[in-house]
Amino acid sequence: SRSQCRYSYEEYKETADWLLAHTEQRPKVAIICGSGLGGLADLLEDRAIFPYENIPRFPTSTVQGHAGRLVFGRLQGVECVCMQGRFHFYEGYDIHTVTYPVRVFFLLGVETLIVTNAAGGLSGNYNVGDIMLIKDHINMPGFSGQNPLCGHNDDRFGVRFPCMSDAYDRELRALARRTAKEQGCDSFLQEGVYCMLAGPTYETIAECRVLQMLGADAVGMSTVPEVVVARHCDMRVLGLSLITNKVVMDYESVEKANHAEVLKTTERRTQDLQRLVSHVITRL
Ligand code: 6GU
Repeated sequence: SRSQCRYSYEEYKETADWLLAHTEQRPKVAIICGSGLGGLADLLEDRAIFPYENIPRFPTSTVQGHAGRLVFGRLQGVECVCMQGRFHFYEGYDIHTVTYPVRVFFLLGVETLIVTNAAGGLSGNYNVGDIMLIKDHINMPGFSGQNPLCGHNDDRFGVRFPCMSDAYDRELRALARRTAKEQGCDSFLQEGVYCMLAGPTYETIAECRVLQMLGADAVGMSTVPEVVVARHCDMRVLGLSLITNKVVMDYESVEKANHAEVLKTTERRTQDLQRLVSHVITRL
C-alpha cells in the first residue's frame, strides 16, 4: 500500500534523470545545509540552481530561513550538490518525504553526504558556538516506529537490515579534525552523540535530563532520517552540529530555549562552519 512504500524506485529515478538532463555536473558529494547554514551554497561556482518546486516529484519546502532549492556547483573546484533548505518531520512531511532527496542523490552518483544542523548542547563540556562532529546518533523517532526504512525494502537501494554502528565515517571525522586544526577551529570542535527528537517543541527539563542520561551530547530535530537512508545505500556520512544554545537542565534556571538564540549563534559561526566544510571537501 501507499503507506508501506511511499515512493517507488521509478519516482526517485524520474527526479534524478530530470536533474541529470538539466545539468552536466556529476557531483560525488552532497551537502544538506541546516537552518541558517545555507550560505555554503552561495559560495559555489558555475552554479546550476533548481528551486524544489521546479524539480519533478521533489517535495516543496515551507519554512522561513530555508530557501528550498538544490544548488549544483564547484566548491574549491570540487563538484557538489547542496540542499539549501531541508524537509523536517515537524513540518508535517512523512518520514519518507524527509529523506526523498537522499535517494535522489544516490541515483545521481553521490558517494559522500555531509549534513549540518543546529542543535542544543546537553553535554556540560560544550559551549554555545561549538561545532560537534557527530560520532553517533540516537534515533528517538525510530524507537516509536518512525524509521524511514520501514515498509517494503527495495534491494536496489540497500539491504533489509542495514548496520548503523558505523554510520558516521571514522576517516571523515579524522579528516574533519585535522582540517579544523589547520583552520584554527579546533578550540571549539567537539565530538559527540546527536539525539533526534521529532519537535517542534523544545525539550522540557525532565526530557533533557533523560537525554543526558541516555548518553546524548546534543539534541535537534533533523539529520537522523537522512543519515539512515544514506547509510542504507552505503554513502559515506559526515555530520556536523552547531551548538546554538545550551538546553535548560535545572528548575532554578531563567534561561529558555528559543529560536532567536539559535539564529544568532548560527550567524556568528556560519563562516567557520562553511570554511571547515569546504576545506574538508577538497580533501575527500
Ligand atoms: Cl535546545 N532542542 C532541539 N530539539 N533542537 C534544537 C535545539 C534544542 N537547539 C537548536 N535546535
